[in-house]
Amino acid sequence: MSETKPYVIAIDGPGGSGKGSLALRLAKILGFHLLDSGAIYRLAALKALKSGTNIKQEIDVLEALQDFNIHFESGEELTIPFLDGEDVAAQIRLESTGDAASVIAQYSGVRACLLERQRQCFQPPGLVADGRDMGTVVFPDALIKFFLYASVEIRAQRRYNQLISMGISANIAQLQADISERDERDRNRSESPLVPATDALVVDSSLLDLDQVTELMMSHIHEVTE
Ligand code: DC
Repeated sequence: MSETKPYVIAIDGPGGSGKGSLALRLAKILGFHLLDSGAIYRLAALKALKSGTNIKQEIDVLEALQDFNIHFESGEELTIPFLDGEDVAAQIRLESTGDAASVIAQYSGVRACLLERQRQCFQPPGLVADGRDMGTVVFPDALIKFFLYASVEIRAQRRYNQLISMGISANIAQLQADISERDERDRNRSESPLVPATDALVVDSSLLDLDQVTELMMSHIHEVTE
């Protein structure tokens, strides 16, 4: 049966699995909205860091988020995130911001505070939602769910290339260590851990390029919606 109602495509997986680039591609192909939920966690972490908050204390982070003004503007290629009116695209991509995001993402109060903002992104004609808990918690009724993963070595190499292309210096060994540590934290937290939804299609992107994974995902979408 052909799917005409707006629907959600949830793409979960660890950082560097390619989900960000793939979510952007699918959103463009389908003309859907895009939710980069990691950017929202990074913005929350940046807010806390900028206000001198001790991110080890949930209550202090929640206090900092009482006044959390963010918005996104469409750039030429990517969406530009703003925090309190400031373009923070480069700042949220720093490893230090990613680490802080992974720490504050463990807190149930923080996750609850960011939940509604994420759900509001589901607007016609549909949404591609990229994150860690899109298919399990934020959009449990998503019509289509993917869980992408890739080896730590390949993810570190991808992150390295990404940072260098942005003019940010990086060290592969350090990136591997950081990725493993962040994976541990994301997988083992009690709140919304990084796990595939039971009804997700699990895709190993280690040995596939973006075009191959796009093709695989699009054929799954067509199978479900046509
Ligand atoms: O995908 P990313 O690297 O931009 O995400 C940064 C951190 O935010 C990641 O370590 C875990 C957290 N996060 C989360 O807990 N849930 C999400 N849906 C998205 C990100």
